[in-house]
Amino acid sequence: MPQKTFTASINDKPATDAARAAILKNPGFGVAFTDHMVTMKWTPEAGWHAGRLEPYRPFQLDPATAALHYAQIVFEGLKAYRSKENEILLFRPENNAERLAKSAQRLAIPALPVQFFVEAIEELVRVDHLWVPASEGGGSLYLRPFIFASEAMLTVRPAREYTFCLIASPVGDYFAGGQKPLKLWVSTDYVRAARGGTGAAKCPGNYAGSLMAQKQSVDNDCDQTVFLDAVEQKWIEELGGMNICFITKDKKLITPPISGTILDGITRKSILTLAAEEGLEVEETPYSYQQWKHDAESGYLTEAFACGTAAVVVSIGTVRDAHGTFTIGEGLTGPVTATLRQRLVNLQRGVEADSHGWVRRISI
Ligand SMILES: Cc1ncc(COP(=O)(O)O)c(C=O)c1O
Repeated sequence: MPQKTFTASINDKPATDAARAAILKNPGFGVAFTDHMVTMKWTPEAGWHAGRLEPYRPFQLDPATAALHYAQIVFEGLKAYRSKENEILLFRPENNAERLAKSAQRLAIPALPVQFFVEAIEELVRVDHLWVPASEGGGSLYLRPFIFASEAMLTVRPAREYTFCLIASPVGDYFAGGQKPLKLWVSTDYVRAARGGTGAAKCPGNYAGSLMAQKQSVDNDCDQTVFLDAVEQKWIEELGGMNICFITKDKKLITPPISGTILDGITRKSILTLAAEEGLEVEETPYSYQQWKHDAESGYLTEAFACGTAAVVVSIGTVRDAHGTFTIGEGLTGPVTATLRQRLVNLQRGVEADSHGWVRRISI
């Protein structure tokens, strides 16, 4: 019999049914966690080994743990969905596994094989399936796999020991306003990523570096930050945690290309496929902030939306910078955004037939 990748140790003090139900009623985003987690170690001698499914617990870390000092860490974000028929579904998890491996390569971290990644997700979701929110409320189980340099040492070099960990958190809407159109702040003081940097990798440093811009956006009564390119401060890149798409009057979907400075979003990629199916002309092309403003003011641009696993698809209502504000269309969720969102959600939740082979069912 083949050896299992993850040995299981079941939590003998899981949350009570009542405690879990109270959390699932109003889960927030990323604040409550399930009863278990998965861990795995890497060393040069043994490669990836010691896979465990175990009770959720705090880590005990040496203060010299390299990740705490030099941020040699990569992570992912994906969701498990409950269908109306009570099946548990994953959406394109292999794509997250492949992106984690790419991010790892950029951060000089040994890649976790795709098969281990998917197995870890399936093991955790299977044991904690009661934590996947019901389909009706729009909630899901957010999965957070990450790898960090766990060797204790302070030399600036790739570590010689890594820990993979997977945790899960039941979540509702990412934005407090739910599906309310977003107010975006355009950052002209800060950039997120430069050519040759780590913008295309999902690594914590990108997010830490975005927080001052995000603080400015909140101070200006906005929900999220739009980052412009680092060289000319001219071209639209992406938001702090989402990609961005624009819809024109003549039925084009424009989105910045995957150029090495933005994250290759799985939601973005899926939306581009769905948009083409809906008869839109998809253009992955640089789009300047000035053009955006001009097209919105002339009425050529009818809709814009942000897209990502956490936020799904949310329309952009207004855009603000230090000099003023402009509105997209009527400032509401337009019909194209609504259609694309609905199709994506229907696929993720098994309402629409999976003609693309994007959905993975987990047997419980
Ligand atoms: C910076 C950034 N861009 C885009 C995305 C969207 O990627 P995905 O659709 O794969 O979640 C995310 C979320 O993971 C992100 O953090």
